[in-house]
Amino acid sequence: MSVGIGRERQFEVYVGGARGVHPTVPVSFERLERAARKAMTPEGFAYVAGGAGTEETMRGNRAAFDRWRIVPRVLHDVSTRDTAVEVLGTSMPSPFVLCPIGVLEMAHREADVAVARAAAAEGIPFVFSNQASRPMEETARAMGDAPRWFQLYWSTSNDLVASLVSRAESCGCSGIVLTLDTTMLGWRIRDLDLAYLPFLRGKGIAQYTSDPVFVEALQETLRQEAPPGGRITLAAIGTLLSQAGSYPGSRLANVRSGLARAAVRRFVETYSRPSLSWDDLAFLRERTRLPILLKGVLHSADASAAVEHGMDGLVVSNHGGRQVDGAIATLDALPAIVDAVGGRIPVVLDSGIRSGADVFRALALGASAVGLGRPYVWGLAAGGEAGVREVIRNLRADFDLTMGLSGVARVRDIGRDNVTPA
Ligand SMILES: Cc1cc2nc3c(=O)[nH]c(=O)nc-3n(C[C@H](O)[C@H](O)[C@H](O)COP(=O)(O)O)c2cc1C
Repeated sequence: MSVGIGRERQFEVYVGGARGVHPTVPVSFERLERAARKAMTPEGFAYVAGGAGTEETMRGNRAAFDRWRIVPRVLHDVSTRDTAVEVLGTSMPSPFVLCPIGVLEMAHREADVAVARAAAAEGIPFVFSNQASRPMEETARAMGDAPRWFQLYWSTSNDLVASLVSRAESCGCSGIVLTLDTTMLGWRIRDLDLAYLPFLRGKGIAQYTSDPVFVEALQETLRQEAPPGGRITLAAIGTLLSQAGSYPGSRLANVRSGLARAAVRRFVETYSRPSLSWDDLAFLRERTRLPILLKGVLHSADASAAVEHGMDGLVVSNHGGRQVDGAIATLDALPAIVDAVGGRIPVVLDSGIRSGADVFRALALGASAVGLGRPYVWGLAAGGEAGVREVIRNLRADFDLTMGLSGVARVRDIGRDNVTPA
C-alpha cells in the first residue's frame, strides 16, 4: 500500500540526509528565492521577482491567504489519500498546474524544456507560455504523453492567433488559456529602474520566431527596416548580438540578414491587442474544439459573461501582481466568482500559491485546482530540471500531508467547512 506522496517525499529527504545527501534546492520558499537570486543576473531576477507599482498586489495576494485558517478535523481515516483531480478532461495527480511563465531562459539555459521534463516526470500539467524561450514543439517533445495546455496572448494578427492555436493542437495541448490581463505591460518599477525588457533583447519570443505566419510577415518588416539610428554604443552592440543569438540559426548570419532585429521589431508591433473585447472570443471559439479558459478574471460579472460566451473555464489571476497595483487579491476574488459560475465551469486560481496550505485554502473556497508560478522558476534557476522537480514534489507532498492532517482523505471532500476567517 502506498504511503502517499507526502510521506514518500519526507522519507526521501530524511533518508537522504542520513546518508549525507541533501535536496538539490531549499524547501523553504524564502531560501529558494535567495538561491535563485544568486544564480541569476540582476535583470533576470528583477523581471521574475517584480510586480507592478509598489507591489501592493503581490503582498495582498499573500495577505489574503493569511486571513483564512484551516480547521482540522480528527478521527477520520486518512491512511490513504486521493489528491488527484481532473479539470476539463486533464488529469492531475495533485490539484495544480505549472503556470505559463515567459522568458524562462533568464532562469536557466534549458528553460522551458527543463520545466517540461520535470512536469512530465511528476504528471503535473505544464501550461506553455506564449512568451516562451523555446518553441512549443520542442517543449512538447520533451514531455512524451504528459499533460499540457497552451497559453495564448491575442496579438494584433488574427492569422497569428489561429496559427498558434493550431500548433498547440498539433503539440497535444488539451486546453487553451487565453490571458486577458496583459493587453499592455504593467508599470513594473524594478524593470524600469534597470531599463530592461527581455523581449527587446530577442528573449521570450520563440513562439513567434518559430511560427510560419510570423516568419512570413517578417519579410515585410525586413523590407521596411530602417537602418539603425543613433550612436553605436557597446550596449547597442550587445543588444544586437543578444537578439541575433536568440533567433534560430547562426548568430553571424542573423546579424547579417537583419532577421533577428526585424523579429524584435515585428514582435513589438504585433504583441497584444488592447482593443480586445467579448465579441472577439467567437473567433477563437470557432477555431478550436479544445476547452478555452480565460485567465485574469477577477470580477464576478466577467465570470458570468465568460460562461455566457461559451468559455469552458476560468483562471482567477492577477498575474502575480505584475499588472495592476492595488488590485484585489485572487483569494479575495474567488468566492464571488465561484458563486457567479455556480459550478457550470471550473475555476482555477493562481497568484501567491506558496504551500500546501495555500492549495488547500483555495480549494476550500471553491477552486478546482491552482496554478504554481514563481516557486518553480526559482527551482529552475537554482537547480535546473532537478530543482523544478523537487519544487513540484515538495508542493505535492505538503498538500497531501496538509489535507490528511486536516482530516480529509479526498480532494473532493474539501469544502468551505474546512476553513474559517482568521
Ligand atoms: C516572470 C513571469 C513571467 C510570466 N509570464 C506569463 C506569461 O507569459 N503568460 C501568462 O499568462 N502569465 C504569465 N505570468 C503570470 C503567471 O502565469 C501567474 O499568473 C503568476 O506567476 C502567479 O503569481 P505567483 O507566481 O506570484 O504565484 C508570468 C509571471 C512571472 C512571474
